[in-house]
Order: sequence, then structure tokens, then C-alpha cells
Amino acid sequence: MGVLIILLILISWSQTEAAESANIALPGCPSSCGGVPIPYPFGIGPNCSMSQDFEVRCITAHNGISTPYMSEHFNQTCWKWNNSTANFDLSYYTAIAIRDINLSLGQARITSPINSQCYDSTTKKVDYNNWEVILTDTPYKFNRDKNKFVAVGCDTLAYIKFSINQNNYWGGCGSWCYSPEALTNGTCSGIGCCQTDMPNGTSYIWIEFDQNYTSSHVYNFSRCSYAMLTEESDEFMFNTDYITTNQLFGQNTTAVIDWAIGNTTCDTARANKSSYACRSDYSVCLNSGNDPGYLCNCAEGYQGNPYLEGGCQGRL
Ligand SMILES: *[C@@H]1O[C@H](CO)[C@@H](O)[C@H](O)[C@H]1NC(C)=O
Ligand SMILES: *[C@@H]1O[C@H](CO)[C@@H](O)[C@H](O)[C@H]1NC(C)=O
Ligand SMILES: *[C@@H]1O[C@H](CO)[C@@H](O)[C@H](O)[C@H]1NC(C)=O
Ligand SMILES: *[C@@H]1O[C@H](CO)[C@@H](O)[C@H](O)[C@H]1NC(C)=O
Ligand SMILES: *[C@@H]1O[C@H](CO)[C@@H](O)[C@H](O)[C@H]1NC(C)=O
Ligand SMILES: *[C@@H]1O[C@H](CO)[C@@H](O)[C@H](O)[C@H]1NC(C)=O
Ligand SMILES: *[C@@H]1O[C@H](CO)[C@@H](O)[C@H](O)[C@H]1NC(C)=O
Ligand SMILES: *[C@@H]1O[C@H](CO)[C@@H](O)[C@H](O)[C@H]1NC(C)=O
Ligand SMILES: *[C@@H]1O[C@H](CO)[C@@H](O)[C@H](O)[C@H]1NC(C)=O
Ligand SMILES: *[C@@H]1O[C@H](CO)[C@@H](O)[C@H](O)[C@H]1NC(C)=O
Ligand SMILES: *[C@@H]1O[C@H](CO)[C@@H](O)[C@H](O)[C@H]1NC(C)=O
Ligand SMILES: *[C@@H]1O[C@H](CO)[C@@H](O)[C@H](O)[C@H]1NC(C)=O
Repeated sequence: MGVLIILLILISWSQTEAAESANIALPGCPSSCGGVPIPYPFGIGPNCSMSQDFEVRCITAHNGISTPYMSEHFNQTCWKWNNSTANFDLSYYTAIAIRDINLSLGQARITSPINSQCYDSTTKKVDYNNWEVILTDTPYKFNRDKNKFVAVGCDTLAYIKFSINQNNYWGGCGSWCYSPEALTNGTCSGIGCCQTDMPNGTSYIWIEFDQNYTSSHVYNFSRCSYAMLTEESDEFMFNTDYITTNQLFGQNTTAVIDWAIGNTTCDTARANKSSYACRSDYSVCLNSGNDPGYLCNCAEGYQGNPYLEGGCQGRL
């Protein structure tokens, strides 16, 4: 009986997969990874994406759960403070996981690491985990309107460095409090939590804490500070437990990136039929706002994948 149910689930699962692959991926290419649909121009494996930049790696962990990651030449790098050299040393780097891809908006949601600064009251040392996310020279930019820089802590001044067309800019915010009773859930305005906007067109971020603010006098209720670029959504709502427990330590949040095809406008792109990405009949071209480049959508009344021949289908 149990086996039969599992078989039925497997059959309906593979039917769903087949139905999706007819629509969203190149023929013969996997259409999803770990339950996340991977529509062309993205693709799993070398001949399944429009270019190397859109290549997705589907990796299955020991527990059997598969996760889609961005192409391995994009780095998310962790730097740890080295007390003996008073410098950040490269600690490790990871690929960037993809949570979902939105074809019509030209966006994707990716994991964004939470940076930390923790005070050790016995050694009086401060331990830093600082992350750098490098998307330079790729079709990806952080979305200005959907992300915020957020810092959490009670003796915290955190900075974010952005790189736009090879120029660097700094932003940041400060957060203080003197007791856990001063904190309110859902409020992020400088007491236990602060936030700030980011500019458009950013392809590189580096987050750092000001070492003059280390929680050394609030450590009995708030030992760590955190800072992150995060999607502005219900997923990140300030919670007083973020101060009084270490539940944010070593975790990820989510950020939104914009992507686009090529580096020309629609008018220029249309002129070269062999490279023009809007392959389907009933597709339309849109100039991207944040990136150079363009996006394809299905025309009004059609839906599907405009990047594939015959991808846009009339609604039934
Ligand atoms: C498939 O990918 C391999 C390795 O990247 C490449 O050598 C080959 O030319 C590709 N084939 C096609 C048909 O694109
Ligand atoms: C990613 O990190 C590895 C290890 O530090 C490095 O060898 C590689 O060049 C990095 N790639 C990019 C695109 O920065
Ligand atoms: C800190 O730097 C020293 C000197 O370069 C090196 O020997 C040591 O391994 C580093 N420690 C860590 C944790 O990276
Ligand atoms: C780490 O650095 C701090 C300040 O620079 C110093 O007081 C402390 O002794 C150092 N700890 C170790 C274990 O080197
Ligand atoms: C955070 O995301 C990275 C991939 O981007 C992954 O390697 C890591 O395991 C994640 N950490 C946690 C705690 O989920
Ligand atoms: C993409 O975003 C649009 C607008 O928010 C939404 O209508 C659509 O359902 C999204 N598509 C996917 C696949 O999430
Ligand atoms: C805030 O919410 C968390 C989790 O829901 C709860 O544990 C905590 O007590 C709340 N804090 C306040 C001040 O209400
Ligand atoms: C701490 O603040 C002092 C005075 O503003 C400044 O001179 C010093 O560079 C700061 N130290 C650090 C580690 O940021
Ligand atoms: C933290 O320590 C101060 C005295 O240094 C004390 O008044 C306060 O009650 C302590 N708070 C907690 C949460 O233990
Ligand atoms: C646009 O893309 C082409 C091909 O990828 C590249 O050769 C060219 O340098 C790019 N131009 C700019 C301005 O980035
Ligand atoms: C059109 O695009 C193809 C494929 O990318 C390229 O090989 C060719 O040189 C382009 N033609 C012109 C006129 O730019
Ligand atoms: C940022 O870029 C988006 C397109 O991705 C655009 O819609 C928005 O108006 C831009 N915002 C600003 C302030 O330029």
C-alpha cells in the first residue's frame, strides 16, 4: 500500500516535470531543480542555458535535497577577522543559491548571507564574519526597490560598500539600545534595528562593522550584531528574539536581483535575427531599467516562455 502511494506520487511528479519541460526549458534539458522551476535562458548544465552566465548547477546534498546554484564563477566570499594580523583573511567561499526566477520581471531571488560581529566576554575578543558578493561583469544587479540594507544589534554601526560601474560607494546605519525592554517587534528605526536604501545598478557588495561599536557593554543580553542586504518583505520583520538569541548567526536571508539579456537596447538587438533572444512568435521586447540589455515577455493574451521557439501560447 505504502509502495503504491509512493509510486503514484512519483508518476504524478514525473508527469508534472514533463509538462514543465515542454514549456520552459530547452528540449532535453531539466526544467527544475529541488522544486524550483529553471526556465530558459537559465538552464541546468552547459548546453542548456543561453550563455555561461545563465548556467545553473543543480547539486544534491547528502540528505537528498537538491538546490539550484548560480554558475560557479560567481562568488560569495566569507572573510573572517584575524586577530593576530588585524586583517580580514579569506575564510571560504560558496556558490549563490537560487530561490526562484521570474521571467516576465527579469528578476530572481537568491540567498544573501547574514554578516555578524560577536563579542566574547571571557577573551574580550570580537569575532567577525563579513561577506562579499561579487556579480561584476555579469547580467545581474541587485534590485534597488525590493532590497534594503538592515543591521540588527544594540551597539552597532554597520556599513555596506556598493560598486557601480567600478566606482565604490558606502552606505550604512547605526542601531543602539540599553535593555531588551526597549525593543519592539516589527519596528526597525534605530533601536535594536536600523535600515537604509541602496542605489540602482549595484553588482558588488561588501558589508563591514565599525570596530568602535562591539557590544562590549550590552553583551549580557546582546552579544552579536548582524548586517545584511535583504528583500524587504514579511520574511524579514524585526523580532526582539534576533537580539536576545543567536538565531540569526550563520544564517541566510533572501535578496532580489535583476537580470537582462545582452547589453544593447531592443532596437539594436532586433537587428540581428540570429542573436535576438525573443525567439517565440507573439513575444515582445522590453528595455531593462536597471541593467543595460533587454527582456522578452509574451504579448498580451499569451503566456509561456518567450525565449523559446513557440514558447508563447494563447490562453485557453
Ligand atoms: C555543448 O557543450 C560543450 C561543452 O561546453 C561544447 O563543447 C559543445 O560545443 C556544446 N554543444 C552544442 C551543440 O552547443
Ligand atoms: C572565486 O573564489 C575563488 C577562491 O578564492 C577564486 O579562485 C576565484 O577566482 C573566484 N572567482 C571570481 C570570479 O572572483
Ligand atoms: C592569521 O594570520 C596568521 C599570519 O598570517 C596566520 O598564520 C594564521 O593562520 C591566520 N589565522 C587565521 C584564523 O586565518
Ligand atoms: C586580539 O586583539 C585584541 C585587540 O587588538 C587584543 O586585546 C587581544 O589580546 C587579541 N587576542 C588574541 C588572542 O590575540
Ligand atoms: C546559505 O546559503 C549558502 C549558499 O548560498 C549555503 O551554502 C549555506 O549552506 C546556507 N546556510 C544556511 C545556514 O542555510
Ligand atoms: C512574476 O512576477 C509577476 C508580477 O509580480 C507575477 O504576476 C508572476 O506570477 C511572477 N511569476 C513567477 C513565475 O513567479
Ligand atoms: C516578538 O516576537 C517573538 C516571536 O514571535 C516573541 O518571542 C517575543 O517575545 C516578541 N517580543 C515582544 C517584545 O513582544
Ligand atoms: C574609533 O573612533 C576613533 C575616534 O573617532 C577613530 O580615530 C578610530 O579610527 C576608530 N577606530 C576604529 C577601529 O574604527
Ligand atoms: C546586564 O547587566 C546589567 C549590569 O551590568 C544588569 O543591570 C542587567 O540586569 C543585566 N541584564 C540581563 C538581561 O542580564
Ligand atoms: C557588450 O557585449 C559584447 C558581447 O558580449 C561585448 O563584446 C561588449 O564589450 C559589451 N559592451 C559593453 C559596453 O559592455
Ligand atoms: C549576429 O549575432 C551572431 C551570433 O551572436 C554573431 O555571430 C554575428 O556576428 C552577429 N551579426 C552582426 C551583424 O552583428
Ligand atoms: C531602478 O531600476 C528599476 C528597474 O529595474 C526601475 O524600475 C526603477 O525606476 C529604478 N529606480 C531608480 C530610483 O532609478
